[in-house]
Amino acid sequence: MADLLQEIKKRKTFGVIAHPDAGKTTLTEKLLLFGGAIQEAGAVKSNKIKKGATSDFMEIERQRGISVATSVLAFEYKGHKINILDTPGHKDFAEDTYRTLTAVDSVIVVIDVAKGVEEQTEKLVQVCRMRKIPMLVFINKLDREGKDAFDLLDEVEQKLGLTVTPLSLPIGMGAQFQGIYNLWEKNIEFFLEEKKQKVGESVKIDDLNDAKVDELIGEKAAATLREEAELVETVYPPFNREEYMRGDLQPVFFGSALNNFGVRELLDAFIEIAPMPQPKEAEERTVEPVEKNFSGFVFKIHANMDPKHRDRLAFVKIVSGTFRRNENYLLVREGKKMKFSSPNAFFADKKEVVDESFPGDIVGLHDTGNFRIGDTLTAGEKLHFKGIPAFSPEHFRYINNDDPLKAKQLAKGIDQLMDEGVAQLFTLEMNGRKIIGTVGALQYEVIQYRLEHEYGAKCSYEPLSIHKACWVEADEKSEEFKEFARLKQRFLARDKFGQLVFLADSAFTIQMTQDKFPNVKLHFISEWRD
Ligand code: G4P
Repeated sequence: MADLLQEIKKRKTFGVIAHPDAGKTTLTEKLLLFGGAIQEAGAVKSNKIKKGATSDFMEIERQRGISVATSVLAFEYKGHKINILDTPGHKDFAEDTYRTLTAVDSVIVVIDVAKGVEEQTEKLVQVCRMRKIPMLVFINKLDREGKDAFDLLDEVEQKLGLTVTPLSLPIGMGAQFQGIYNLWEKNIEFFLEEKKQKVGESVKIDDLNDAKVDELIGEKAAATLREEAELVETVYPPFNREEYMRGDLQPVFFGSALNNFGVRELLDAFIEIAPMPQPKEAEERTVEPVEKNFSGFVFKIHANMDPKHRDRLAFVKIVSGTFRRNENYLLVREGKKMKFSSPNAFFADKKEVVDESFPGDIVGLHDTGNFRIGDTLTAGEKLHFKGIPAFSPEHFRYINNDDPLKAKQLAKGIDQLMDEGVAQLFTLEMNGRKIIGTVGALQYEVIQYRLEHEYGAKCSYEPLSIHKACWVEADEKSEEFKEFARLKQRFLARDKFGQLVFLADSAFTIQMTQDKFPNVKLHFISEWRD
């Protein structure tokens, strides 16, 4: 039997976050190439929704197929088992990404050197900061003209609220790009454009003042490099692993994923410093990975592409102990014992049935409708892992049943799609009407399409002008709350878990409501009880 501690120490589970087009897919692919998990570039399909595809159902379906294949990519590198969890960059799927971030132990943030910090990066990094997830930054596309390295570091600090320390420095950029000085290993790696799929040469430099540097990159570039290396030392804090682990310091690397440049430096530093599977807070206690008993939680549910089989794949991150095939486990919310005869483990290009999995790993469990996002699965203990919040949706619409004979199918379909986390359902207190809230408009089409094809139910939507869903925290017996409920009764709803939600029609309304009812607290995240 495998030694649990050894298995845990081997594992690194992380996500790559980026604004679309910064190079997340390319970098992921190059990491797999280094790990020997794929043999050539082009093997990993991008699962991004291409521009202009927003109203094409088949495109959505095709993308769903790809995204299950790339949900988890695992490979071995220098004795480590690395699990990369896919995080969609498209903003309509941001909620999916937020949830995936509850299952990673660290992240790599990819930034395009020409575009700098973009909107999606800002949002995702904010979530990582809130959760104190250790982050490495990779500045990509150095083969192109872009912003000055130091200006970019300033931008990263200011816009993302990070404290950075460069662990590599670019030598030139764009047409003048010569390579990377690796401050971590103290060597220079040369950029050879024609060697796109291979690893560049590297020369070890113990002292930057060595005349060899002038020979290698030319006097001018050498002088600039020396100046910049000195600047790094004086301006930026030295790398400190504890600070990185606490989320207080973020090392930065430069490179070009497409040209396979700076990727090895990133990967080597990553396996050395990135955290192994970490303890996780449950409502009851903190759960340590080394505990003998298995525990884990569902962070993603993926419906089967085949409408004839309403089979779903629940992605479970293992938090503690050893997960075993055909063993009885407790689905805590339902108090139900379940066992799994064909749990899937994920590799770079395939999934396979596994007998055992360990903390840090993701197992895919076939499910016919029992699981819900955020569910805890244990060997028997009644634990509830914290930390899968719902954020206020951006779009709201009434959902109507278009076929009275299929009301049951519609209700079931809505229920299951909400369990999967496709969107959020709010039921108005006043009249029981159902409202679907989503992060992006795309989800409405996905829902309509899937309700019809998987559940045989037809629906239509009606517009509704809501600005934000605010989860309400108040003493429901107080006079103040009663007055609030009386005045706002048309806008009060329950979410899927029965929590009271105020659907505010404008930012102004929220402000007015808060001024008028100071003891009725409004939260934009469902998990305010934390
Ligand atoms: P994403 O997953 O973050 O959305 O980005 P992706 O890797 O798909 O990369 C977006 C585009 O940027 C791709 O070009 C990709 O080839 C390019 N790219 C990635 N890394 C680098 C780099 O280091 N240097 C340069 N110059 N380009 C890079 P595309 O034209 O959109 O797609 P494709 O036709 O090349 O697949």
